[in-house]
Amino acid sequence: MIPQDFVDQLLTRVDIVDVVDRYVPLKRGGQNYLACCPFHKEKSPSFTVSPSKQFYHCFGCGAHGSAIGFVMEYQGLGFVEAVKLLAEGIGMQVPESVGRQPAEERQARERKMSLEQAMQRAADYYKQQLKSAVDAIGYLKGRGLSGEIAARFGLGFAPGQWQNLEAAFDNYDDALLVEGGLVIVNEEGRRYDRFRERVMFPIRNQRGAIIGFGGRVLGKGEPKYLNSPETPLFEKGRELYGLYEARQAIRAKNRVLVVEGYMDVVALAQFGIEYAVATLGTSTSGEHVRKLMRHADHVYFCFDGDSAGQKAAWRALENSLPQLVDGKSLHFLFLPEEHDPDSYIRASGSEAFETLLEQQSLPLSSYFTRELTRRVELDTPEGKADLIRQSAPLLAQIGAPALGFIIKKRLAELAGVDVDDFDRLVGLKKPERKGRREYRLPEESNRQVNTSIIRKQVKWLLMNPTWANDVEMPDSLTLSDELACFAMLAERAQQSEAPTTAQLVECIRGTPYEGLVDSVLQQAMQDPEEFASPDEDDRNQFRDGNQRLLQLIRAAELGRLIQKSRSERLSPEESHLMRELLVRPG
Ligand code: UTP
Ligand code: MN
Repeated sequence: MIPQDFVDQLLTRVDIVDVVDRYVPLKRGGQNYLACCPFHKEKSPSFTVSPSKQFYHCFGCGAHGSAIGFVMEYQGLGFVEAVKLLAEGIGMQVPESVGRQPAEERQARERKMSLEQAMQRAADYYKQQLKSAVDAIGYLKGRGLSGEIAARFGLGFAPGQWQNLEAAFDNYDDALLVEGGLVIVNEEGRRYDRFRERVMFPIRNQRGAIIGFGGRVLGKGEPKYLNSPETPLFEKGRELYGLYEARQAIRAKNRVLVVEGYMDVVALAQFGIEYAVATLGTSTSGEHVRKLMRHADHVYFCFDGDSAGQKAAWRALENSLPQLVDGKSLHFLFLPEEHDPDSYIRASGSEAFETLLEQQSLPLSSYFTRELTRRVELDTPEGKADLIRQSAPLLAQIGAPALGFIIKKRLAELAGVDVDDFDRLVGLKKPERKGRREYRLPEESNRQVNTSIIRKQVKWLLMNPTWANDVEMPDSLTLSDELACFAMLAERAQQSEAPTTAQLVECIRGTPYEGLVDSVLQQAMQDPEEFASPDEDDRNQFRDGNQRLLQLIRAAELGRLIQKSRSERLSPEESHLMRELLVRPG
């Protein structure tokens, strides 16, 4: 975890104009800087960088974010990596894992670099060996692989001897080889190569560094694929095979396809479908989904049609739910039972495959409802009740508010109840908020607070963080999600001397409000005027909006208390609050 303070400091010390300009040359245009957008194809520049907001936005494709967001997006890095890169650029030390000394940290990093070099050296060696390995070449040719595609993925061959790598390294006893999972030490202390007589698939991280291998037997044998163990470089549950190679195609198509096997990725690429990646023999994790959604708006999972495929798909869905964001979509494709993507594309070609992908894949929402309704007997009340019971815990995990609501509505319909009843029946619990306010409005009064006003206020505040001083949120009252988000942003901006849009966006990253802020920004930015300097009129509108919000919150709370007082005794605090609200309603 990187402390929020540090992120703040970093954002005040880097200048987004410099950061972006390093990758995309900027031209001045009024108060802002302009360029052709690096995230979509365009001829005239609609990509705008605002020095005062420390924020970028493209009016063409809606991409937007802080300097950190830009580096993440442009370089395909994770948050921590992006922060590190920016910090290093200006000589700031990231206070990462508490307790770890800088010297230790440096050592760990140097160790990783040596490991990377060792992996690269091994990969070069395996690649070299493939050139003269008649059997291996025969095997790959037999599976229809072209030499070109083998080279593109850096395929290699580990010969059959026990200590092949002696030829590749000066010191075969170097502990690095064991740490990198290339060499195994047996109980008697004897060392031997992990990979022998196997076709080697190097696995790269997002930077292109080799972090592990998958090795396939030629023909039959067990295990079919042998993989690198977990090492300081290689964490299976986070990495995706082929992501580095596929990056450009993924960006160009704004689409990524997730398959199960190494061979699938390679075969698809050979047939021109270059936006495929594979999990590494593990199920799709939340981390995978987050990573994928950073690269493209549309993620397709492809599974074999058999029961193992069905199971894997459902697990992928479950792990995806908390990661969902409105504005991105996930799809599930099930292949005909006898096929995997490799065999399918070889049998039917890429056009048929893409048609299948586009026409037969199920959006997450459909797959979700289909699976749940399959599990129960919808024509009986008992079955409908079971549907509600089974879907509630899953629905509660959905990260995308709009999509989550739509799915819930559909399920409620299928169960023959309306959404309010559905919520009441399951006592719907939302994920805990990180903000300081601990309790929330009951759903009924929640709705009374008009969401569109709040969205508008959130937008104004994001665009003009210094206006936060106009905001006053009651501490004692319960707030809906949108309001809590607004309150959190305002509070954050009030704490800062010179708050920027970038700071606000970064403080909301990783909280349940990220999706809301993202969609507000996306919408706001469709109108370039929003990015321009607002005038006094706008500010007055904002102030009025705040008043209106306060009134709405109070009215909602009062309504709730009155309702409650009719059926039960209010606590002394509640009675007090009710009296206050009655005296001073707005
Ligand atoms: P599959 O058994 O479906 O293999 O495993 P595949 O990709 O179709 O391979 P080919 O076509 O027979 O060569 C899918 C993935 O599961 C992991 C690998 O990542 C593989 O690509 N796996 C499979 C292993 O890690 N070990 C194994 O023994 C088998
Ligand atoms: Mn296969």
